[in-house]
Amino acid sequence: VRTAILISGAGSNMAALIEASRAADAPFEVAVVISNKPDASGLTVAAALDVPVMAVDHRLFGKDREAHERAIDAVLMDHGVEVVALAGYMRLLTPWLVGRWNGLMLNIHPSLLPKYPGLDTHARALAAGDEEAGCTVHLVDEGVDEGPVLDQEAVPVLPFDTPETLAQRVLTAEHRLYPRALAAFCRGLH
Ligand code: GRF
Repeated sequence: VRTAILISGAGSNMAALIEASRAADAPFEVAVVISNKPDASGLTVAAALDVPVMAVDHRLFGKDREAHERAIDAVLMDHGVEVVALAGYMRLLTPWLVGRWNGLMLNIHPSLLPKYPGLDTHARALAAGDEEAGCTVHLVDEGVDEGPVLDQEAVPVLPFDTPETLAQRVLTAEHRLYPRALAAFCRGLH
């Protein structure tokens, strides 16, 4: 299955997905990496891994979110993409792109959804005194971080955790979860 990965930053999840795509039995390949930020360091990582990259700078489209999404969709079409994986992609999507990729767009979120949709998930889990945290791969629908859950991985919250130490533990779990969840999803498509 030809996939695209959308990023806005470091792309550590992207890197994990690219690595997983190179396994002999991998059911997906990464056809293109797209970032809304031309300076996203993940673009350099992807290029170094010989994956086609494209920056579609949202600032060029002013307030017209849908026009930006149409430009992204054109790149997806050009590369014959079948499944889209959001990975640290920090733009809210309009119903236009969500509708175009309904049931074929995945996202990873750093909490055990439905707990803590949105930002600052680790600080919120610590403030609540949760004993575990984690990450979720879900299908993207019109809401924010609320589509059908495909898979999750929990991690323990430790007594002296800060948002940073917890974020790192969750991020490591993300790098296991996303490849597993995307592979299972792609195997289920045939
Ligand atoms: C991280 O906070 C991760 O939890 C979330 O997006 C952020 C950046 O991830 N999924 P990445 O390193 O760009 O994949």
